[in-house]
Amino acid sequence: LIRIGVVGTGFIARPHLQALRALPEIWGADVPRIDLSVACDERRAVAEEAARRHGIARVVDDWRRVTGDPEVDAVLVLTPNDLHAPVAIDALRHGKHILCEKPLADTVESAAALCAAARAAGTAAQVAFVYREWPAVRLARALVAAGEIGSPLAFHARFYHDYALDRAHPRSWRFERARAGAGSIGDLGSHLIDLARTFMGEVGAVQARTRTVIPARPGGGVDVDDAADVWLEFAGGATGSLATSWVAAGHKTDIAFEILGEHGSIRFAWQRANELDVVSGDLDAVRSIAIGPAHPGALWPIAGVGLGWADAFVPAARAFVDAAAGRPVSAPTFEDGLAVAEVVAAAIGSSRPLAAEASAASHAATQR
Ligand SMILES: NC(=O)c1ccc[n+]([C@@H]2O[C@H](COP(=O)([O-])OP(=O)(O)OC[C@H]3O[C@@H](n4cnc5c(N)ncnc54)[C@H](O)[C@@H]3O)[C@@H](O)[C@H]2O)c1
Repeated sequence: LIRIGVVGTGFIARPHLQALRALPEIWGADVPRIDLSVACDERRAVAEEAARRHGIARVVDDWRRVTGDPEVDAVLVLTPNDLHAPVAIDALRHGKHILCEKPLADTVESAAALCAAARAAGTAAQVAFVYREWPAVRLARALVAAGEIGSPLAFHARFYHDYALDRAHPRSWRFERARAGAGSIGDLGSHLIDLARTFMGEVGAVQARTRTVIPARPGGGVDVDDAADVWLEFAGGATGSLATSWVAAGHKTDIAFEILGEHGSIRFAWQRANELDVVSGDLDAVRSIAIGPAHPGALWPIAGVGLGWADAFVPAARAFVDAAAGRPVSAPTFEDGLAVAEVVAAAIGSSRPLAAEASAASHAATQR
């Protein structure tokens, strides 16, 4: 029995807990047995609500009562980014398995400290780069590995949202460098960098321009980017680009990528998340593959029934409990989280943010 504690029961706790609870329904007796033992949030009422919804027996408001609890085997770290390191490192010192939300940490130094703690603990230490195991993404990776499009020459991706386009959207921890580490480039970009690494290998060089389109919000100033454009060069010589934005009008969870190969290409867009477009052989035809049980990672025995966003957390939950039970798994590790954090930091370091006044003026101009 794997006894799980959850630290941080805000927004992202919901799909994680839903996914953990779905495991026996999907895989039956094959999945290690779990117990959702304790919910922790500094806002106790929020933890109590999560406990009610998901059938969690105990509620605490101090995370040390989870990380040091001998009755807990595994901890989900679902707090704001600056708390990932203190919570996860303390839990690792107590020998717990960790599934940590992305980005792994707010700084490269904290990400490196997390890796060191994970190595010392020898327990499972995974990062929730959940899009990596999405069935269409897995199929794309399998096709690239099989040489379907030849050597990849370029990877281009975007992740756009417009949730922060409204100037009245309040400043939360996400808009504070001290809590988040980075803005859209860390929040959304870390997913894309993780995908890029799985398709293309390590990033060798990066150049970026980050912007803060809306530099002040109700509650205070914003000192992270809300949009970024990133150019990549991979160690193997291939190139790439990423664009991230919280202020992309009309875009909602808009993840898309394309891999251009020597003799074909692969295209994915979240708006058609259960399909993959492939060009190979006949360059005049785009094949739309409907994801189903013939492909890796499908959860249902029928093609085309489709998965939704919350299903992306199911493979992560499965890999985590399998690893906690001592089974071999393939899942994003803290080392992956560190590699991504290094790219994000290098991108920010390479950028020359426009002056806040200039950004504000250009925003005002686009509003007229
Ligand atoms: N994988 C994904 O696709 C994805 C999507 C959204 C968020 N996230 C990540 O999940 C994490 C949380 O994001 P969120 O959207 O759920 O934020 P959120 O603000 O909704 O939730 C964070 C929770 O942590 C709690 N908290 C803060 N300080 C605490 C403390 N000292 N002790 C205990 N609890 C504390 C807050 O009260 C809040 O309930 C972030 O790292 C974020 O980047 C990942």
